[in-house]
Amino acid sequence: MSNPKIETLLPTVYATCGEGPHWDVASQSLYSVDIQEGTALRWEADTGKKSKIKLDGTVSFVVPCDRGGVVVGHNRNISHVDWDTQATTVLGEVDKGTTNRLNDAKADASGRLWAGTMGLEAVPGQVAGPVGALYSMSHDHKLTNQLGNISISNGLDWTDDNSVMFYIDSVPRKVYAFDFDLAAGTISNQRTAIEFAPDSLSTYGLPDGMCLDAQGKIWVACFSASCVHCFDPETGKTLQTLKFPATNITSVCFGGKNLDELFVTSSQYNLQPSQGDQPLAGSLFRVTGLGVKGRAPYNYKG
Ligand code: BGC
Ligand code: CA
Repeated sequence: MSNPKIETLLPTVYATCGEGPHWDVASQSLYSVDIQEGTALRWEADTGKKSKIKLDGTVSFVVPCDRGGVVVGHNRNISHVDWDTQATTVLGEVDKGTTNRLNDAKADASGRLWAGTMGLEAVPGQVAGPVGALYSMSHDHKLTNQLGNISISNGLDWTDDNSVMFYIDSVPRKVYAFDFDLAAGTISNQRTAIEFAPDSLSTYGLPDGMCLDAQGKIWVACFSASCVHCFDPETGKTLQTLKFPATNITSVCFGGKNLDELFVTSSQYNLQPSQGDQPLAGSLFRVTGLGVKGRAPYNYKG
């Protein structure tokens, strides 16, 4: 039975665009980023303790590493950062010589990292064109360009059996599906799993961050539409809608002791006057009582 309760867990904790929630089972904490502030945040669930790392420029994702520390998307660099000393080592640079920046990323079941890019954004959600790309980074930091012509590279996740990868490009408002080869680290047979209808901008917005739950349903943060929609990837149909008191909802992940809480990030970056006064924009929300479980995410093994 689903009886969702939405709580503002950390009010306006993100000064700009809160993003990239990642539940770390080992430390029972939630990692996330504040993109234009250039920080990554760790919130420890048991104590409520918060700690941060700060870099110059944008920080678009944070994923813990098996060897300790985290890997972050820093401008166009994928870098390792030691959480305690903040010592930063560049592992690789993508889209060299452009004004692009990294956006969302996730590690796959083999500990390989997948990270995408986007062009300069005039106002949130509007980029000059499809100048971004999707990359993977192996354990030994080798970069592979997996897909080009991406507008705003966004959420991604895999089915439990690793046979399918889902991936969002926000501007065409599509969730794509690919056949996934975990051993080879390749994607093929691109098709559209979920498409937002052209007349649904106010209720569906732009698809942003996403994750699959333990039943294989897809939870998508809907930027500019104040909600998270849950979809059946087989039919593309909407199964459930959660409404939040902030327009720009950016990403989702399951976490908590039983992996049955949904953490939802939001943005207060560059809100447009037409979007009204939003005192809770930039907050971290938590949804309990969904009656659904998520899956533990993977660390980067590089
Ligand atoms: C990006 C934002 C963008 C939003 C909506 C986020 O992932 O980081 O810059 O405005 O997606 O597409
Ligand atoms: Ca995103």
